[in-house]
Amino acid sequence: MNRKGIILAGGSGSRLYPLTKVISKQLLPIYNKPMIYYPISNLIMSRIKEILIISSPHHIKLYKNLLGNGENLGLKFSYKIQKKPNGIAEGLILAEKFLKGSNFCLILGDNIFFGKDIKKKFLNASNSESQSIFGKKVNHPNKYGVLKFKNGKVNKIIEKPKSLVSKYAVTGIYFYNNSAIEIAKKLKPSYRNELEITDLNNQILDKNELNIHLLNNEQYWYDAGNHSDYVKTINHVYNYENEKQLVGCLEIEAFKSSFISKKKLLKYINNKSPFYKKLKNIL
Ligand code: DAU
Repeated sequence: MNRKGIILAGGSGSRLYPLTKVISKQLLPIYNKPMIYYPISNLIMSRIKEILIISSPHHIKLYKNLLGNGENLGLKFSYKIQKKPNGIAEGLILAEKFLKGSNFCLILGDNIFFGKDIKKKFLNASNSESQSIFGKKVNHPNKYGVLKFKNGKVNKIIEKPKSLVSKYAVTGIYFYNNSAIEIAKKLKPSYRNELEITDLNNQILDKNELNIHLLNNEQYWYDAGNHSDYVKTINHVYNYENEKQLVGCLEIEAFKSSFISKKKLLKYINNKSPFYKKLKNIL
């Protein structure tokens, strides 16, 4: 059965205040596209067509207006409200009906991934029957979930540790089997009153069922959740697009994954589109 996709686009966005006073964080621009385009493009490159967008009661309509039913991209978007930001792992419980027993990829709506061979990495995880998460070496790991190593192997993930555990952060893309929902249902709220994705990952890790892949130096990851990381993300995407190639362009990604034809691609990205001149490297 094909993997489905879930994008978490709720939360309060308080660390990006006042940018998020009247707009949902995951709709803020990252250079030339709304933030949510980037995780959607990661799902498309993982050959995932059916995608559930989860957001707050206040913002869900904005996502419907932006993305519609996804037909133009060969996708199928569904929408679900999360009443309160009760934690990332609540997303799995809210998605149970949508998933109808399928395995899935959960991606955070404020996480941006791009770079060399990232598609290969995500597609491998998507096609495999096993469960995978991705780590990345960063300068300030303690604001994330962090991989703890013992004898060269990850033996635990620690959410926002107080002291240095390792330099490897857990990124916000997770490939799970449907059985992960049952684990999510049994989680207890943490000290910050959230169902923690790290608690869920630790349980799968304890059963020896979690593959942990590392992104390399040419595979970039940003959590655009605060002002300084937001600006860094925009600068890097701007430079990457000017020096290398477009990222997060849904029509191009849908074409590359054979979800839409060349004719359709040229209909959406015609000579009036700012992305038109980039097409010659793709077609
Ligand atoms: O970015 C990766 C990190 O994401 C991981 O390393 C951490 O293990 C994980 O807990 C998470 O940490 P954050 O503190 O950055 O999560 P945050 O609360 O910012 O939420 C991440 C995204 O999920 C954000 O786009 C908002 C959305 N969200 C969050 C919660 C808690 C929801 O849609 N609903 C929620 O209930």
